[in-house]
Amino acid sequence: MPRALITGISGQDGSYLSEYLLEKGYEVFGLVRRNSITENQQSRLEKISTLITSYYGDLADQGGIYRILDQVKPDEIYNLAAQSHVRVSFDIPQFTAQTNAVGVLNLLEAARQTVPEARFYQASSSEMFGNSVDEDGRQRETTPMHPVSPYGCAKLFGYSIVRNYRFSYGMFCSNGILFNHESPRRASNFVTSKIIKNAVAIYRGELDFLYLGNLDSKRDWGHAKDYVTAMHAILNHDTPDDFVISTGETHSIREFCSIVFGNLGLNYEDYVRQDERFMRPQELEYLCGDSTKAKKILNWSPKITFDQLVQDMLETYLNDTKK
Ligand code: GDD
Repeated sequence: MPRALITGISGQDGSYLSEYLLEKGYEVFGLVRRNSITENQQSRLEKISTLITSYYGDLADQGGIYRILDQVKPDEIYNLAAQSHVRVSFDIPQFTAQTNAVGVLNLLEAARQTVPEARFYQASSSEMFGNSVDEDGRQRETTPMHPVSPYGCAKLFGYSIVRNYRFSYGMFCSNGILFNHESPRRASNFVTSKIIKNAVAIYRGELDFLYLGNLDSKRDWGHAKDYVTAMHAILNHDTPDDFVISTGETHSIREFCSIVFGNLGLNYEDYVRQDERFMRPQELEYLCGDSTKAKKILNWSPKITFDQLVQDMLETYLNDTKK
């Protein structure tokens, strides 16, 4: 049985990836950061809690990481742990850098010392591109990276050090440059979940208005369930490499609001208000990825459409609030 270690296993991607790897016959181990509300720690893992082994750990805690790697001896390491909220990274930039940049190095170095043959996947992000776009309106592996947030800057270090370990030490270290990916398991302070959760509350008469930040930025949104299959494909390719994972379709936040409220028979303009609190000091305006390389080399392409993603999330919130 191959053994996979997933940092950030309790997150949206960690939980879907665990389910996918279990189906494929892996033994799954995970790192979970301690949180004062016990129920919050593993709520996304409830269905599979008896099938996985989890350890308390933190990418900043080098001793613990060495111990766990040495004990688990994984064949594949998926580094999904991060401070994953871009706007919050402006509030806690140093913590974000410690986790999303130095944390990657801590894990890589521990892997080099304990399991140098293990394959290493790094959750890199389209946020690394910042406002850099190729002439055809796409971002791809060769597009220059000029991040515009502490989150993006830290992720760019993570991406670079993963490549550095690949070329310096011959380790199998790969980056997935994932564009935004959502699901019913998305935390409600990311814009898709926030819009859907609050639109449902408005529809039910429980809320008057939805307060958002920038409505004009555009994002390339896929389904997290699809994207975790790309992570596995990236690590199981013959050679380590870097891949953009995206849908190639882009929508503005305004459009997303219009679709969600429209689905509920409402006009978003009557309910959505802009609020300075949710604006960012610097904004990434536009994302639209080109994942031709992943399609050609890994035979990966997204299966779930944008409309199906919205329906999946909307139905989940509608069913949840009825309970
Ligand atoms: N979160 C949030 N809350 N975003 C808002 C709001 C709001 O009230 N109002 C407008 N937005 C806009 C943001 O300014 C941004 O342009 C867009 O909605 C998407 O924001 P998020 O959903 O927070 O995602 P993100 O694009 O910043 O970051 C996500 O995608 C990255 C990949 O590009 C995260 O998942 C990152 O971890 C990931 O790396």
